[in-house]
Amino acid sequence: MIGSLQSAGLATTIETITPSESVKTLETFGHLLGAIAGSSHGRVDPVVSLGGGIVCDIAGFVAASYRRGVPVIQCPSTLLAMVDASVGGKTGVNLTLDGGGLMKNLVGAFHQPRLVCADIALLESLSDRHRRSGLSECIKHAFICKSVGHDGLGDWMGEHLESIKAFDSATIEQLVMRNVALKATVVARDEHESPDAIEGGRMLLNFGHTFGHAIETLPGLSPDADGANAPLHHGEAVALGMVAACRCAESLGMCAPTTGDSLVAMLDSVGLPSCVAGLPTTDEIVERMGHDKKAIGSSIRLVLATGVGQCTIVDDASGDAMGVGIDSIRA
Ligand code: GLY
Repeated sequence: MIGSLQSAGLATTIETITPSESVKTLETFGHLLGAIAGSSHGRVDPVVSLGGGIVCDIAGFVAASYRRGVPVIQCPSTLLAMVDASVGGKTGVNLTLDGGGLMKNLVGAFHQPRLVCADIALLESLSDRHRRSGLSECIKHAFICKSVGHDGLGDWMGEHLESIKAFDSATIEQLVMRNVALKATVVARDEHESPDAIEGGRMLLNFGHTFGHAIETLPGLSPDADGANAPLHHGEAVALGMVAACRCAESLGMCAPTTGDSLVAMLDSVGLPSCVAGLPTTDEIVERMGHDKKAIGSSIRLVLATGVGQCTIVDDASGDAMGVGIDSIRA
């Protein structure tokens, strides 16, 4: 990509980061801003982001902030970034709290990309684990599809499961297009995630994320109890978070008691985890969930399933119901 830009006569300043949640911080953000300020980057010059979700988020936030906003072009290189992080304009970094805990995406801005350029040939270089992680966001979309007018997505994914698992390129191209179409519909209706959006709006895209974010940055958790594979990838944490959200909803009588089983079967079929060893106490996880951006005052706002493909927003889930969700993902 750098060669293409340079051969088109465009001057480039290149900054690389090692993508991990622990570097998605204000410190890295400051470093990148310093680098851009030290270059000849002008008011109309774009930041071009090439990478996965972490790179999309931090590069987008740099673009949103530098000179109060310069254009950003997102070139996602992972499935997760293609179907989610590069689309819709959410940008930001994690925040380290006084006690040392890292809270996901607590600082950021909405800043829409001028262009998203997703080349699915890049996905061939991904590890199986990164591919599975991206499929987690696709399963999330399948689990909210009926609530946002894209009813067919879940069925389409079920019908094409074998070619999705085989990462057949024509199927993956369709998968990306269908998932981006769903996300674009949701974002077009509620770009800034209004707290009182009718029928949940953009908040529905956070299905699995309130539980998931609370465990994603905990050190030592891995998808297969092998410490060498810690920490969890974002998609793995979201997979676990979706299971917790389904079991929580089942315990509140909001959905059929088989809803979580359907989700677990989908996750199993693509090799995503539905339970994890080494979780801290339920109280500690609930406390971390309270720092979530969607928390309203002292209540924790959750996206809970009302069935397969349907979700809704709940502000008053009991601690017991959240505990059922959390306990359901303990290995
Ligand atoms: N990843 C959720 C959203 O973009 O709203």
